[in-house]
Amino acid sequence: MTIKIEPTGKSCGAFIEGVDLRLPLSDVDIEVIRKAWGEHHVIIFRNQKLNDDDLERVSAYFGKLSIDPFVKSLPGREHIISVQREADETSAIFAEIWHADWTFKSDPPFATCLYSVEIPPIGGNTLFSNQVLALEEMPITLRERITDKLALHSAKMGYSKQGSYGDKYESKGMEIIPSDKAMEVEAHPFIIKHPVSGKESIYGSAIAYIIGVSGMPQKEAMSLIMELQRWQVQERFVYSHQWEENMLVMWDNRSVLHKATGGYEGYRRELHRTTISEKDDRPFSL
Ligand SMILES: [Fe+2]
Repeated sequence: MTIKIEPTGKSCGAFIEGVDLRLPLSDVDIEVIRKAWGEHHVIIFRNQKLNDDDLERVSAYFGKLSIDPFVKSLPGREHIISVQREADETSAIFAEIWHADWTFKSDPPFATCLYSVEIPPIGGNTLFSNQVLALEEMPITLRERITDKLALHSAKMGYSKQGSYGDKYESKGMEIIPSDKAMEVEAHPFIIKHPVSGKESIYGSAIAYIIGVSGMPQKEAMSLIMELQRWQVQERFVYSHQWEENMLVMWDNRSVLHKATGGYEGYRRELHRTTISEKDDRPFSL
């Protein structure tokens, strides 16, 4: 089969056509996809009727599957969580804040895969912000302030017992497991270099999960990371992805931020998610 890459024409993202993900992929196919992924940051496969075995197999072509530290996985599927919201839910939309997944870990997953099972007729787009572009266009004065600096990442604002997904958060669709482990803090550089594309990008985002800057007084640090975030998520860097059912979207947490959106009250929504880490457990690339 011949794989075709069709860019979205927006700030990032490309549709991958000419591949049936129910079938095993050849090494050549995997390399073509990996290269397109490095170039476009978000890849989208339409009209793929996948089950959870397929989702795990396709994800595992690119690395090692991770286990979500704070969301209960599907029964018998430790590597898959269901991102779902029932039609009559009134709780806050899950993940409606800019972030890259699990940057609070020392070995965060470099990628996330999300497969659409049930999609409402309106709303629920996922937004992606291209952090290679955001860095390329960044004023030198701002860039100098984050160069060679370490951002401090933590899940405490989200998944500690007092966090936004803590003891008070109620969801009919998802079981969150808040814990004291969320209080841990991990440092990562603000600027990282992508191992496939060789391009530099801004890694992570304020609040979820950057909460400080190593060696910087907290007030100054918060001012910097909030200013940085305003730069990172400007509309010209953002691609708004509209879902269809049976769609697999894979994004690179090293080069895009993402954010859920609502607007589908009264409708049920369900997507299955895996995350991918480096196969050899090497430390997060700097
Ligand atoms: Fe996420």
